[in-house]
Amino acid sequence: MVKRETILSGMQPTGALHLGNLEGALRNWVNLQDTYDMFCCIVDWHALTADFEDPSILKDRIFQMTIDWLAAGLDPDKCAIFIQSEVKEHAELHLLFSMLITVPTLTRLPTYQEKQEQLDSYGFLGYPVLQAADICLYGAHKVPVGKDQEKHIWLANDLAKRFNNYYGETLVEPEAMFTRIPLILGADNRKMSKSYGNHIPIEATEDETNQILRKYYTDPQKVRKGDPGRPEICPIFLLHKVYTPGAEEEIAPPCTTGELGCVDCKKRLSATLNPAMAPIRERRAELEQKPDHIWDVLADGAARAGKRAGEVMERVRSAMKMNYRKN
Ligand code: TRP
Repeated sequence: MVKRETILSGMQPTGALHLGNLEGALRNWVNLQDTYDMFCCIVDWHALTADFEDPSILKDRIFQMTIDWLAAGLDPDKCAIFIQSEVKEHAELHLLFSMLITVPTLTRLPTYQEKQEQLDSYGFLGYPVLQAADICLYGAHKVPVGKDQEKHIWLANDLAKRFNNYYGETLVEPEAMFTRIPLILGADNRKMSKSYGNHIPIEATEDETNQILRKYYTDPQKVRKGDPGRPEICPIFLLHKVYTPGAEEEIAPPCTTGELGCVDCKKRLSATLNPAMAPIRERRAELEQKPDHIWDVLADGAARAGKRAGEVMERVRSAMKMNYRKN
């Protein structure tokens, strides 16, 4: 099959992933790898905005996250899986882009405004500029992201346009790709996030998963079996919708009437969620025993990514008339 368009996807190395990452991003990436020329980037330089004091944690987080990517089905034969800092051109294009954007444009971004009080480094201000470089470096047409990243992709598009206006048509002008993803909430009914400690790790065992489910938030008005429940406000029902076939007919009505209690409802979820996760967990356990293989995948990915990045940067330098020894 001729792959026409390129996709760049990126994720910060947060370590072992959870169901929110799996259903919100990974499954989508796995689907896209067959139809697009795909680059999957572990953005360790972006992670430094928060973790600059102790970068020694990054190696294990990269290792664990790569295992989850592969266990979920990303295939190194179909996409280049690589570490951002192993392709130095990200830093070069970031620097060039930094000349084409004003500081007020960056300080106005909501992602900057939200965290500026905790984080006010030069690197944090430039975070979206580095992200734009990640994307444009591969000539990516599409970037699969959540709505929270919309402005960042817009900025990447704007920077590519500016570059093309100044120096001639060189860069692909990328667009965000929003896919319908199921909503997954954590044990405390907030967004599932490792930093909230409300997550179900992909690597959790069946017992660990059941224990997390036991403590999961449910409709506070449904105190005991017999009380009518509201599936539409219940994070357990959200999980049923992903993992239990026919959840709308089998789970919602008996919850609403009170016939199905929360304890049994969680047991039924356990009976569908755990088997669905079993093959991923098995692959994960196998991969964890093969660290050399993981680092080889990342080295090979960096070589392939580096090839594309090198070609694009040649065109960039040439457009800017800065490849002095060549033209
Ligand atoms: N900012 C993205 C996030 O927080 C991570 C990221 C960095 C990214 N570079 C990227 C995402 C390039 C897509 C493309 O999720």
